[in-house]
Amino acid sequence: MNERDAATIAALIEQFQAVPGGLMPLLHAVQHAIGHIPHDSVQQIAKGMGLSRAEVHGVISFYHDFRTEPAGELTIHICRAEACQAMGARELEVHAKTVLGIEYGETTEDGRFTLQPVYCLGNCACTPSIRIGDEVYARVTPERFDQLVFGA
Ligand code: FES
Repeated sequence: MNERDAATIAALIEQFQAVPGGLMPLLHAVQHAIGHIPHDSVQQIAKGMGLSRAEVHGVISFYHDFRTEPAGELTIHICRAEACQAMGARELEVHAKTVLGIEYGETTEDGRFTLQPVYCLGNCACTPSIRIGDEVYARVTPERFDQLVFGA
């Protein structure tokens, strides 16, 4: 973590440390400001919020939306909600993890793609659905996934 990020986090801690239940809004604010929550900021956040490192780490790792590494150029969200699961989303997610070589919450080595789960994209009539960047795509088969992601 560089000095500028540490100073940003220090200012945000000051803003949230007196707020009851301030950890969640603080973590969102850090991720919004920096793009992720650096691994080495956990101690600073814990100290500032009067919590243990384990407590802060537990919250960060429980919520899929929090990242401890910078995101890739494009984030791919795969819907894991019921309607999509019933129409092949599980097979699609296995395929996506295999071809990208990453798990949820991770970024490909070339920094291009980050993979995240999502719980409904509001597109339940045309499942399975995914979002790539800001675009939602419907009825995505493994073959269509490859076309959308790799242009294959
Ligand atoms: S359940 Fe997947 S878009 Fe709603």
